[in-house]
Amino acid sequence: MADKVYRASTTAPVNIAVVKYWGKRDATLNLPTNSSLSVTLAQSDLRTLTTASCSASYPASEGDWLLLNGEPSDVSGARVQACFRELRARRAALEAADPSLPKLSTMPLHIVSENNFPTAAGLASSAAGFAALVRAIADLYELPASPSELSLIARQGSGSACRSLFGGYVAWRMGGKADGSDSMADQVAEASHWPEMRALVLVASAAKKGVSSTSGMQQTVATSSLFQERIERVVPQNMAVMEKAIQDRDFAPFAEVTMRDSNSFHATCADTYPPIFYMNDVSRAAIRAVEQINAAAGRTVAAYTFDAGPNAVIYYLEKDTELVVGTFYHVLGGEIDGWKNDAVKGLKPTTSLDGG
Ligand code: DP6
Repeated sequence: MADKVYRASTTAPVNIAVVKYWGKRDATLNLPTNSSLSVTLAQSDLRTLTTASCSASYPASEGDWLLLNGEPSDVSGARVQACFRELRARRAALEAADPSLPKLSTMPLHIVSENNFPTAAGLASSAAGFAALVRAIADLYELPASPSELSLIARQGSGSACRSLFGGYVAWRMGGKADGSDSMADQVAEASHWPEMRALVLVASAAKKGVSSTSGMQQTVATSSLFQERIERVVPQNMAVMEKAIQDRDFAPFAEVTMRDSNSFHATCADTYPPIFYMNDVSRAAIRAVEQINAAAGRTVAAYTFDAGPNAVIYYLEKDTELVVGTFYHVLGGEIDGWKNDAVKGLKPTTSLDGG
């Protein structure tokens, strides 16, 4: 049986935060300066598919490897290593407790991972990527771990990845322990709790982001005075209002907090020294379009949010699909439902939220 190949496949969806994670209090353990909350998008639209395999027949000299969208990817970085180490340690504990189990923890790992969206478009690919990587290996190792336990491991790959282990509405609680054992994600509500929720992804630019999230947030923590206000006052309040809005399925406060929190996050980026700008002219046009839609309707119909890049995600309810998607189509002259022009400009409406 030495040549037996053990294998497991899984998918993980992209999540887009409505209360943003921005800042680390411990860069090694990847512990955040604040809690955050996100919405998991539909797997059919944006997801990573990952297969993990291991075998005693894999040459030890090659070690572990990862093929990402068909290209070899470096696994020697601290983040991937932390995930491999944690997962192997849990498998080794199972093997120690039950000597009849095959010694998978000692075999080289081969990981093959594919995104069904353009990686370069900056659409939270690390979140789906690390969530899928961790769950694929956990499945391969048959670990009896809950999604929250796996979120502790995925967090060390990329902070936002800990939220992609759940579908629906997901909170990452910052925790307070120095070892990070309480900094994990939980599900605030299933997607089915609020089935009318929709997300429209507007790809304003497929260019790779100028300043990575990891280094951008470190610069913000080190230099922005606005940041203290954000983590001490703004975010705790946004988390509380957002959780209630989700429980109550109340779109107006959901939308207001989403937009305010995005603005607050980008304000701390502008307050970073030297300043960091993630939004571009297309992003600002999207903000104006949302304002116009809401003003014309006389109620809150849509909410925008931007991560560490110019692409917009617009949240709205199903009944307002024509109003929102129609307006964006008209205002931006975009292509609906396609990654046209190499995804340089495209609108991708999701049909629903699911996953997890
Ligand atoms: C703006 O999770 O990519 O998307 O932990 O350094 O990998 P690392 O950062 P990452 O940061 C995401 C930042 C954000 C906000 C969010 O998703 O909450």
